[in-house]
Amino acid sequence: MKVSSLGDLTTASPWIYDCSQKLISLNYGFIKHHLKQWSGLRDGNTCLDIACGVGALQPFVQKNRMSYHGVDINQGYLDYACASHGPYFENLDARHVSRLNRQFDSLLSIGLFHHLTDEDCRCVLREACSVLKKDGRYFILDAIPAKPGNWVGAFLRNQDAGSHIRNMDAWGKLFGEFFSIEKAFQCARWPYDYGVFHLRQKP
Ligand SMILES: C[S@@+](CC[C@H](N)C(=O)[O-])C[C@H]1O[C@@H](n2cnc3c(N)ncnc32)[C@H](O)[C@@H]1O
Repeated sequence: MKVSSLGDLTTASPWIYDCSQKLISLNYGFIKHHLKQWSGLRDGNTCLDIACGVGALQPFVQKNRMSYHGVDINQGYLDYACASHGPYFENLDARHVSRLNRQFDSLLSIGLFHHLTDEDCRCVLREACSVLKKDGRYFILDAIPAKPGNWVGAFLRNQDAGSHIRNMDAWGKLFGEFFSIEKAFQCARWPYDYGVFHLRQKP
């Protein structure tokens, strides 16, 4: 694989990806902090992590007494996830999660959608709708452009393997086509800015 950016490097190596994420998010503490305030984190819930990467959230989800299943298309990441956390992971494209033939109480997608075109986002969201229970919840955290003056963030976003970073309005429009948006807010873990969305099935 030709490595021409920091994003390519982290995609090629699960270990480098895991270390860089642990460093940036303080051992994923930044994401866990936001998940703790989400109504989908509930005892006994079944949780599907769509684009689970190296599976870093599996122990956190299990610690919250929920069952966990993670899917991703990067086999290197999945092998690393299985070796680190156990057999909770499988190679499945987010555009085909209905092939699981299961429904879940809670869905997570951290950093997936900025890798996808609008058409693929819609495909994933449609599939996510079909595997989410009627009263289920969907938590999405994804990239937004760096705020003006945040040159470091802008440089790093430029290096990102995902080339579809959208602003809050654009994310809201896409997600709102398929789900009711309960909460939408921006947050930052320097040098990155993020959008967080709490979604539910439409009535
Ligand atoms: C920025 S990483 C985030 C990984 C993980 N959620 C985390 O927070 O560490 C994006 C992930 O999306 C996965 N991905 C991209 N396109 C995908 C698709 N169509 N189906 C499933 N996973 C996909 C990549 O393989 C990668 O693991």
